[in-house]
Amino acid sequence: MKKKWWHDKVAYQIYPKSFLDSNGDGIGDLRGIISKLDYLKELGIDIIWLSPIYQSPFVDQGYDISDYYKIAEEFGTMEEFDELLAEAKKRGMYILMDLVVNHCSDKHEWFQKALSDPEGEYADYFYFVRGKDGKAPSNYRSYFGGSTWEPVPGTDKYYLHMFAKEQPDLNWENPKLREEIYKMINWWLEKGLAGFRIDAIINIKKDLNFPSFAPDGPDGLATCVKMVEEVQGVGELLEDMKHATFEKYDAFTVAEVFNMKDDELREFIGDDGHFSTMFDFSAHELTFGEHGWYDSRHVEFKEWRDTIFASQQEVQDIGFQANIIENHDEPRGASRFLPAYAQNEAGKKMLATTSLLLRGIPFIYQGQEIGMTNCRMADISEYDDISTKDQYQEALNAGYTAEQALQCCYENSRDNARTPMQWSKGKNAGFSSGTAWLSLNPNYTQINVEEQAERPDSVLSYYRELIALRKSPEYRETFTYGRFIPAYEEEERVFAYRRVSEESGQDILVAANYGMEPCTLTLEGTGGKILLSNMGREKTEENEGNGQKSLTLDSCEAAVILLQ
Ligand code: GLC
Ligand code: CA
Repeated sequence: MKKKWWHDKVAYQIYPKSFLDSNGDGIGDLRGIISKLDYLKELGIDIIWLSPIYQSPFVDQGYDISDYYKIAEEFGTMEEFDELLAEAKKRGMYILMDLVVNHCSDKHEWFQKALSDPEGEYADYFYFVRGKDGKAPSNYRSYFGGSTWEPVPGTDKYYLHMFAKEQPDLNWENPKLREEIYKMINWWLEKGLAGFRIDAIINIKKDLNFPSFAPDGPDGLATCVKMVEEVQGVGELLEDMKHATFEKYDAFTVAEVFNMKDDELREFIGDDGHFSTMFDFSAHELTFGEHGWYDSRHVEFKEWRDTIFASQQEVQDIGFQANIIENHDEPRGASRFLPAYAQNEAGKKMLATTSLLLRGIPFIYQGQEIGMTNCRMADISEYDDISTKDQYQEALNAGYTAEQALQCCYENSRDNARTPMQWSKGKNAGFSSGTAWLSLNPNYTQINVEEQAERPDSVLSYYRELIALRKSPEYRETFTYGRFIPAYEEEERVFAYRRVSEESGQDILVAANYGMEPCTLTLEGTGGKILLSNMGREKTEENEGNGQKSLTLDSCEAAVILLQ
C-alpha cells in the first residue's frame, strides 16, 4: 500500500451553524471557528471538515447550495474564510470543505435559468424528463419522502430530486455541467484547501430510462435507492472527476457512500481508488429501519462489535476507511451505542477508546469529545430538520401515537447532533449571546468544555490523551499501519482487538468491557505495559501460582496494553 500524507491524521467535523456564534445572531460562524482553532489543536486535531458554508437557502441546512463560489452571509465573508485557511495553516492544520454536487439548490442560477427556458441549455444541467401517461416518469420516493419528481411549470416535464424538491439533481451526463463542477473544485483547491468530504456522491449516476419498481410502501412508491443500486457506471464519472481535480493537488477526499456494490471497495479506496477514503457506516446501517429511521431496529452489542470487526478485516488489505461514532446525520453515539448503565463518563471514554484506535482515519464530530448526548424536545415543532419532519409524519401514518413518534425522534433525529456546541454552563452554553437557532440540550450545565478542560479525569482530557497516544512517536506506526486482529471474540460483552506491526515490532491490545459485570481476560506472555486506561489502572494482575498474567476489566473499563 502506498503511504499517503493523511494516513496518520486525526480529523474533526465542524457543523458551522452550531459550533460558535461570534456576533450574537444565534448562528455559528467562521469567526467562531477561527477563535477555537487552538482548542482543536490542543485536542490533537490535524484535519477539519466543515459542513457546507456556501450560500444557501438552508432548506437542508446548507446541503442545498445556491452559489458554490460564495460564503453564506450567515457564516461570514470570503475574507474570513481566507483567514481561517491561513490560521489553520499556521498551526499545521488542514481544512476540508463539503462537496455537494449531486444536487444544488432550486435557487441556484442554473436552475432558475432552466425554469425560465425549459428547452434551453440550462435545462440540460438537470434532469427534465417528460412524464408518462400524465404522471411522473417513475415511482421513486425521495430520501426525504414524497416523489422524486416535481412538475416543471408550464411544461409536461418533471425535474428529478433525490432529496428535497428544493434540491434538484445535477445532470452528470452533461459534459458542460461536469466542466463547471471541476472548475469550481479546482478554484477551491487553488485557494489552499486540503480536500473535500464528498456528499451523497453515489447518487450521481442515474439510469436514464428511470424504470419504476414494485412499490415498497403504502404511498405506492419505491425508494429511489433501488435505482442507485441497480445502475452501473458511477465509477467512470468518479474517475473523470478525480483526474480533472483532486489528483492534481494530492487532495484528500473522504466520501459519503451508501449502497456501494459488493467487491467495489478496491475501486473506491484502493491505492488508485476514486477517493482517498470513505466513511465506514456499517455499524450505523445496522439500525436502519425498513422505511427510514422511524422504524429503526435495536442492535445488540455483539452484532455491532462483529460488524465493525468484519469491516476492519475487509478493508485492511485494500485501503483506509474513516471511522466515526457520530456525525451531523446521526444521533449521538453515546446515546446510541452505549447501554443505559454505560451512559456515563467511563462509558464514553470506553467508546472513544475502542473507536479511535481502530485502523483508519478517526473523524470526531463536534461535541463528541465532551460526551454530548441526544436531546429530548418537548414537541415536534422544536425540531428543524427536514428529515425529522418527514419521519415523524411517516411514523404517524404508520399508526404510531404522537408520543411514540416523538420518542423515535429522540432516538434518531439528525437534530440530536445539531444542537449547539456546549462550551460552558453560562447563557446558551456559551454558544451565543443571542437566541440560538436550535434549542440547546439542557444538560449543558453539566456537560460542557469549560468544566472539562481543566479536570484531569474528564471525557475531554481523556480524548486528548487518547489522540496523543495514537499520534505519539513511539506508537504512531502501529496505530496507523498495524494490522487489526480481533481478540477475545468468545467474550460476548468484550470489545477487544490487537494492533500488530511488523515495522515497529509492537503488539498492542485494546480491550473494553461493555458488560455490566466484571470480566477476566487471560493475557499471553508476560503480560504487558498499560499505555492508557479510563479507570486509572496501572498494571495487569498476576495469577496465583502459574505466573500467568490476566486483566480483570470492570464494567465500562477500557485499557490499552503494549503486550510483552
Ligand atoms: C448527505 C448529508 C446530509 C444531506 C444529504 C443531502 O447525506 O450528510 O446532511 O441532507 O446528503 O445533501
Ligand atoms: Ca453568528
